[in-house]
Amino acid sequence: MAKRVVLAYSGGLDTSVAVAWLQEEMGLEVIAVAVDVGQEGAGSEMDAVRNRALAAGAVEAEVIDAKDEYAEDFLVPALKANAMYEGRYPLVSALSRPVIVKHLVDAARRHGADAVAHGCTGKGNDQVRFEVSTRALAPDLEVIAPARNWGLTRDESIRYAEVRGIPITATREKLYSIDDNLWGRAIECGEMEDPWREPPPGVWLLTKQTATEERDVEISFEAGVPVALNGEKVTLVDLINQLNGIVGSYGWGRIDMVENRRVGIKSRETYECPAALALILAHNDLESITLERDLAREKARLEPRYAELIYDGLWFSPLKRAYDAFIDDSQKFVTGDVRLHLSPGSCRVTGRRSPDALYDYELATYDAADTFRHADSEGFVRLWGLSVQTWAQRQGPGRGQDQ
Ligand code: ARG
Repeated sequence: MAKRVVLAYSGGLDTSVAVAWLQEEMGLEVIAVAVDVGQEGAGSEMDAVRNRALAAGAVEAEVIDAKDEYAEDFLVPALKANAMYEGRYPLVSALSRPVIVKHLVDAARRHGADAVAHGCTGKGNDQVRFEVSTRALAPDLEVIAPARNWGLTRDESIRYAEVRGIPITATREKLYSIDDNLWGRAIECGEMEDPWREPPPGVWLLTKQTATEERDVEISFEAGVPVALNGEKVTLVDLINQLNGIVGSYGWGRIDMVENRRVGIKSRETYECPAALALILAHNDLESITLERDLAREKARLEPRYAELIYDGLWFSPLKRAYDAFIDDSQKFVTGDVRLHLSPGSCRVTGRRSPDALYDYELATYDAADTFRHADSEGFVRLWGLSVQTWAQRQGPGRGQDQ
């Protein structure tokens, strides 16, 4: 039986109740660890989060700023892979779990804990990501999921907190389940559980359309990594934050979909990810002029699988690692600029350039500068079609009328 546990703490109702529950029901010393991955209010509210954990009975509470690490080591690989689950979801929550787990495991080592805990329920993907990632990094640690066992309704959780004097800000009316970080925001539950109902306007925070004047944004990449915005070098975290602000103000970056969870449930999900979607759009486009044809096609074939691995909690896995080696190698020349044009409700690419472009004007042009060897095409096309021609003559439409 574990004695000390490191709990992934968010400061919300469930994880605050979990602090007390792990102590009372399981006799554990709880170390609460809140990881800042750029969620709303993080930074400014992190002191309050720490104090709340201590007030709930944690023996220690730590806040860890993991924003740069999250951006550089987790978002960058995903961007290089243009990772979108089921073709649409840029994996906002799925990407944050492995970095959180990495810090939980570090904290467990530092504090001599023998278990980690999370506040996920039994119906979602996040439990899968927390547990599989923990097993990958620290197979010796126990994983405890109190919210999966306690069977408390929301009202009961609030009562549980009130009786014990645990300071919470939650109200009995909880409309949505929200998870957010630098890469965007996921909004679930409430009336959106009916996939036919339009999400109410109140759920959107990052994509309220306020800008009316059309504008361009230029994103510069070096070896697949975004490094500058409108010609100015910025840190990755700043670049993502700025893009969320700019692109979001055009009301662009929303996703409304029904997705397949790992546990077999279809669920209606809404997301707003203006920066993530704009960056993937731009990165993907830059690849169109910098990746050789066969490499580009093979990479595109692997990308959906790569996204599934992340979604399914397999960030720390040998297959994901092998894919990373392939993808990293593919990015050597993905350097250059992409221009995005923004207008209300729209974001589209209007230009791309690269010092390493494979686009060759003299080969592509139809005007006088043309250097393409037209005569080479004759033999090439004849041989290209030879097999079909033979088939047509012997077995197909060219066989003659009599047979
Ligand atoms: N469906 C998304 C995913 O599995 C979002 C999960 C959001 N989590 C939450 N606690 N609201 O990645």
